[in-house]
Amino acid sequence: TAGQRKRLLDAHRVAAEFFVAQLATPEAKTGRDFLMERGFGREAAAQFGVGYAPQGWQALTDHLRRNGFTDAELRTSGLVSEGSRGVYDRFRGRLVWPIRDVTGEVIGFGARRLYEDDQGPKYLNTPETPLYKKAQVLYGLDLAKGTIRSERTVVVVEGYTDVMACHLAGVTNAVATCGTAFGEDHVKVVRRLMGDTGGAQLKIGSTGSKVIFTFDGDEAGQNAALKAFSLDQQFLAQTFVAVDADGQDPCEIRQHRGDEAVRALMESRVPLFEFVLKTTLATHDLNTIEGRVAALRAAAPVVAGIRDRVLQPEYARRLAGWLGMDVQPVRDAVSAAA
Ligand code: GTP
Ligand code: MN
Ligand code: MN
Ligand code: MN
Ligand code: MN
Repeated sequence: TAGQRKRLLDAHRVAAEFFVAQLATPEAKTGRDFLMERGFGREAAAQFGVGYAPQGWQALTDHLRRNGFTDAELRTSGLVSEGSRGVYDRFRGRLVWPIRDVTGEVIGFGARRLYEDDQGPKYLNTPETPLYKKAQVLYGLDLAKGTIRSERTVVVVEGYTDVMACHLAGVTNAVATCGTAFGEDHVKVVRRLMGDTGGAQLKIGSTGSKVIFTFDGDEAGQNAALKAFSLDQQFLAQTFVAVDADGQDPCEIRQHRGDEAVRALMESRVPLFEFVLKTTLATHDLNTIEGRVAALRAAAPVVAGIRDRVLQPEYARRLAGWLGMDVQPVRDAVSAAA
């Protein structure tokens, strides 16, 4: 109900304020140091509402109870876990990012481990709740929506710290998924924001909309790119990938090389097709004829999957160049793979 929703939003607002206040306590020094090391000072932390969840088991639970929230409400909110002796704080001894919906209301949290002896995952997020549906959530959307609309471009990064780094560097259309891959529901959210409501068919470039994915250079990042490729037909947009040559993520790039380097990363984007093609080629030995033939076999379906009638023959030509082959056999392989 609307009343229940309001109570849950209230609980999240109270929790977010609590976490922010906790970041100033002596216990939170590890958290403040973590932020500093990554190039986020006090102001940046405040701008994004980053907070600290204390190590005790009941700090937030007690605070919410004192503020009139019932244990039933706490359970529904996902802010607590449940044990045999009742509810206790879900986030403990972690840096906490408030996750907001497009209107800026806090609907959940993402929390990073800070202590070596913590057995839990590096990042812990709010579970599915009436407010929080991870398949649709994009961290930073409330801050990014204006630029996404005006530039008709969305930048998708991997993590909370990457969103912060991008926005601070002037890339103000950056968002991140939260502990899940970019999926169909995220596509819908972005398309709705850009005003692309009609037409399920892909029309590359017809709206001028762009999606730029940045991934870590690691294997998880490459898999994420391949996954995005399989989704590509659902974007009513041109899709690009921007990956740093040294494999650093936007947070590391800003920390080590500064704001300008983050902006340069976005300029260095290549079409998703091209990234997938090059990733495919990189797994083959192009010095041998067997390797080149195998690479062609693997790459032909990728080119065949390019729907744009101008881009497809262009990438067949480029593939031939990368393989050191004549264009015709490459065209034939692409036709056969279609
Ligand atoms: P930092 O060390 O915090 O900079 O992270 P990273 O950049 O080294 O990590 P990574 O690239 O692995 O994480 C990027 C994003 O992936 C995070 O912001 C999370 O949203 C998500 N993620 C990473 N590890 C986990 C995990 O253990 N559980 C969940 N649910 N999400 C994770
Ligand atoms: Mn990674
Ligand atoms: Mn990363
Ligand atoms: Mn990182
Ligand atoms: Mn580093």
